[in-house]
Amino acid sequence: MLTYEEAKNYLEKYGQEHLLAYYDELSPQDQSSLLAQIELIDLSVLDNLDAEKNSNTKRGSFEPLGAVTIGDIAANSEQYLQTGIEAIKAGKAAAVLLAGGQGTRLGFDKPKGMFNIGVKRELYIFECLVNNLMDVVKQSGTWVPLYIMTSEKNNADTVAFFKEKDYFGYNSDYVRFFIQDMAPSVDFDGKIYMEGKGRISMSPNGNGGWFSSLVRAGLMDDIRSRGVEWLNVFAVDNVLQRIADPLFIGAVIDSGLQSGGKVVSKADPDERVGVLCLEDGMPSIVEYYEMTDEMRTRLDENGELAYRYGVILNYLFSVEKLVAISDNKMPVHIVDKKIPYMDKSGELVKPERPNGHKFETLVLDMVHMQDSCLAYEVVRNKEFAPVKNPTGVDSVESARELLKENGVEL
Ligand code: UTP
Repeated sequence: MLTYEEAKNYLEKYGQEHLLAYYDELSPQDQSSLLAQIELIDLSVLDNLDAEKNSNTKRGSFEPLGAVTIGDIAANSEQYLQTGIEAIKAGKAAAVLLAGGQGTRLGFDKPKGMFNIGVKRELYIFECLVNNLMDVVKQSGTWVPLYIMTSEKNNADTVAFFKEKDYFGYNSDYVRFFIQDMAPSVDFDGKIYMEGKGRISMSPNGNGGWFSSLVRAGLMDDIRSRGVEWLNVFAVDNVLQRIADPLFIGAVIDSGLQSGGKVVSKADPDERVGVLCLEDGMPSIVEYYEMTDEMRTRLDENGELAYRYGVILNYLFSVEKLVAISDNKMPVHIVDKKIPYMDKSGELVKPERPNGHKFETLVLDMVHMQDSCLAYEVVRNKEFAPVKNPTGVDSVESARELLKENGVEL
């Protein structure tokens, strides 16, 4: 374990010595806990605040990428379905639920999946997702392994909730939880926040670390022993999404491409969604704020938006490729968030507005590490109902409407 002197030297290199400001006031136990926290933090993540050193700021040249469209899928559905169901029956497909986020926009204290989206009855977000996956279990007659990523902040609640609800009818032999890594949160001047006199403010380090966290949790043995070859990674907050969708899996396998991403056609040029495209000839996602006006409004030969396929955080990756790229460094994104912190008087403040940065790697950057990616177009109103905010766009309200539209009783 680090000594006080060593911790101080380490912090000073990064201008973070304020983390030891209350050291003398702490009990011996809290002192060791603080030193242990400092030892575990990778402060080099702070280098990313320096734009020069942040690899994420340098992008290549973009080109549009076509998709298998809703029409193509309808025309080939029998073939896709056959391939997909065959793969699922052979145990080759598993699902990975990314549920380590903090859902700060929703403003719900518990894990987002525990949110009750029902109106007259209880219907939890986790329950919606399990129900959607159950459709595939019934269709294929096969349990699909489900790996659930949580964070240190929400793991205990999440695991207890699934147990309490008896996994919403899912077979618990096929469910595994794993915990993602954390990164420090800083104020707008790059100083790490404290949550208490002996506690450093840490938060989940984004959804990009899911595969390395899964490997570290020892789950590769599970994946290998079950013979899983494809992982369908998806977000907790889209209550309508199809998980381990046989058509999607079949389309990717039949295409011979290395990965797949579900996309929806953008509603309008200014919709704030990342677009699946090519960057220097390789699959990639360009974020809406990275697109120039020309890119946003460019039309293709059919008069449609050239960059129109927005991603919905539902990807299919091959295990083999994930293993091959597991040592690649992922770009670190700096995001503005509301971060609870201890003020000068020692009180914990919960800010109303973003008050600092978190450091996150993102699963979408894995797409750029693939040799190829099939953009697979789905019907927005049938498969995309994200719950990000309490009201307005991508909200509890809009998701409820879409659930109803799709015949889900609330
Ligand atoms: P979001 O980008 O919506 O982030 O996550 P968030 O933290 O959940 O919500 P806000 O921005 O604070 O309101 C997209 C998906 O990635 C997961 C989330 O749980 C969600 O499924 N995620 C996000 C993680 O698993 N870990 C993270 O560190 C961040």
